Amino acid sequence: MSPDGKRFLVTCALPYANGNIHLGHLLEAVQTDIFVRYQKLRGNDVVFVCADDTHGTPIELSALNQGITPEKLIDSARKEHIRDYAGFNISFDIYYSTNSEENRSYAELIYSNLIKNDLIIEREIDQYYCENDKRFLPDRFITGICPNCKAQGQYGDVCEMCGSTYEPTDLIDPQCFICGNKPVLKKSTNLYVKLDKCEKFLREFIDTGVLQDDVKNFVRSWIEDGLREWCISRDGPYFGFKIPGKENKYFYVWLDAPVGYISSTQKWCNESGKRIEDYWSHESGTQVIHFIGKDIVYFHALFWPVMLKSSNFNLPSRIVVHGFLNIQGEKMSKSRGTFINARDFLQKVKHPEGPEYLRFYFGSKLMPNIGDIDLNRNELLNRINTTLANNIGNFHHRTFVFCDRYFDKKIPDASWDEAVETIVEEAAAEIASYYQKCEYKSVIEKVHALGSLGNKYYQDCCPWESVKAEPQKAAVVMVTCVNLIKAIAVFLKPITPDLTGRIERQLGYVFKWDDYKFSLRNFTPGTTEKLVKPLEESDIDPLFTPEISKGRPQSGLIDIDSFKEIDLRVGTVLEAQKIEKSKKLLKLQVQIGSERRQIIAGIAASYSPQDLIGKQVAVVANLEPATLFGLKSEGMLLAAQESKGSLVLLQPEKKVPTGAKIS
Ligand code: MSP
Ligand code: ZN
Repeated sequence: MSPDGKRFLVTCALPYANGNIHLGHLLEAVQTDIFVRYQKLRGNDVVFVCADDTHGTPIELSALNQGITPEKLIDSARKEHIRDYAGFNISFDIYYSTNSEENRSYAELIYSNLIKNDLIIEREIDQYYCENDKRFLPDRFITGICPNCKAQGQYGDVCEMCGSTYEPTDLIDPQCFICGNKPVLKKSTNLYVKLDKCEKFLREFIDTGVLQDDVKNFVRSWIEDGLREWCISRDGPYFGFKIPGKENKYFYVWLDAPVGYISSTQKWCNESGKRIEDYWSHESGTQVIHFIGKDIVYFHALFWPVMLKSSNFNLPSRIVVHGFLNIQGEKMSKSRGTFINARDFLQKVKHPEGPEYLRFYFGSKLMPNIGDIDLNRNELLNRINTTLANNIGNFHHRTFVFCDRYFDKKIPDASWDEAVETIVEEAAAEIASYYQKCEYKSVIEKVHALGSLGNKYYQDCCPWESVKAEPQKAAVVMVTCVNLIKAIAVFLKPITPDLTGRIERQLGYVFKWDDYKFSLRNFTPGTTEKLVKPLEESDIDPLFTPEISKGRPQSGLIDIDSFKEIDLRVGTVLEAQKIEKSKKLLKLQVQIGSERRQIIAGIAASYSPQDLIGKQVAVVANLEPATLFGLKSEGMLLAAQESKGSLVLLQPEKKVPTGAKIS
């Protein structure tokens, strides 16, 4: 066992194999990597495990579109993912795949134990089937309105807006994702985990301190709302593991995805001569820590513990949940061009320390809360140049240049200033507790304060004056400064391993945590290189394209995703009235599906109210409500401009069910 006597198994969420690694994934990987590097620096036994999440419908679909097999797709995705993470110094001990034999056997084991514990129930259910496409529709093949928060365009399993999970049949206004038709219900047998039987266990589990307080509160509210059964089977065709003993049934991707944490550990154990029980058995004493985004809390805080418990595996000690990364204050969006892939960053940012600067920037923003984090161009420049270049880089530079010049390239033989040493000792304890709590922002603030202290100390001591008459006095200043620089380098090592690496090379050894302690005097360091090259605007401007800076595509073109954001529907006008004092507006009551809406439309010059009643119209259904002439308007009609002032309403070419989607 290690000096702190602790063993950790640390994971970040397994990225889906059908997408690139983007800066959002990196935020999570950096948050995790800093924690892992800190524990390793302390000499603790840590394994950092990740893998690609390779199963499920979107991956199958993606492969289909590209005309390759899913196996081929996940193979090349994994290679790219490994390469991209490596560009940012993410120190995985293993990056495996959920499409492995190890994963199949652990998934089957957990499934069989769920059965043994009487936690699985079979139910014949009505499942959506598309008559047009002649197949059962898995959750990702159905979209509709979230039954919980009423967000439009959500998939059949989980709402991306509110994070709640449900069955496809709970969706309001379901549609086939392939052809847009309304699916029909057909009988199919499925397997469910009886989550409600585990309520007591889950209540106790979330009380073990495993979650941040705010996360715990919303998980508790999910439990209070009632735990629903969780469907873990899918009908074929499905890219995943077949369920033993069942005809044409597969494990739902979210069953075998978290099992990837265990199977990847197994693979690592096989390759490094370690024992899986030391990490995943309940008695191992190993702390399992998951880092995840706020969108996948349900899976990790409710489903996963039940799976682990039923097989007597180790439960997580901590689930660290982070918020989402925005760019220049905007959600990352492919359609708006505000989406930055890891690869874009590596290719476009020419500064050799670009990736490390991004680590530092993320570190300076990360606290253990679920607030979203913004990547802002000016702030990035500022943070790097203020703290790394002007503060710490400058302190390092002036100290070593002075030693080169006045002490013949040596660190002189002198004692150090004990007042400064005491400050560093206190800082070390504080910084250690910040790392432990994942409060990296506070780590960086503290380190910045130490850099400022060093610069001030140097300035106030005026060694350039004392060095002539009293060289011993200047020597004390230099020894103090060099030791302070070393301490800063140790404190920053988990966040900026390359920068610390340059100081390690200069001082001639590799730091462990305890090397923050003052220890150096009377020795000859390696040559002084510039520690920090400032970040220039021109280094990062290729990244912050006009689209990102303005939040709009420059070409004036939009892609299909932006178009899909507009919910266009066919509605039927039930009532129409003139609005007093307005020549242009009519007040309409429009039926859209099961809903009735009031819409204020500017068509009074072209239509009289009685012409409109019973007409089918095209409506923008997800428009922010507005108030016109004191009247609420919840939507907009589409009309063509015949001539100035004369409008012609758009209508379906033949009558369709009210609420029909226009796409
Ligand atoms: N495959 C699942 C996870 C399975 S874990 C057993 C998944 N994959 S994902 O690729 O969509 O997301 C992986 C991780 O990246 C998740 O923790 C998710 O929250 C995180 N992020 C995805 N986009 C993000 C941002 N824009 N910002 C920060 N994190 C984000 O979910
Ligand atoms: Zn269809």
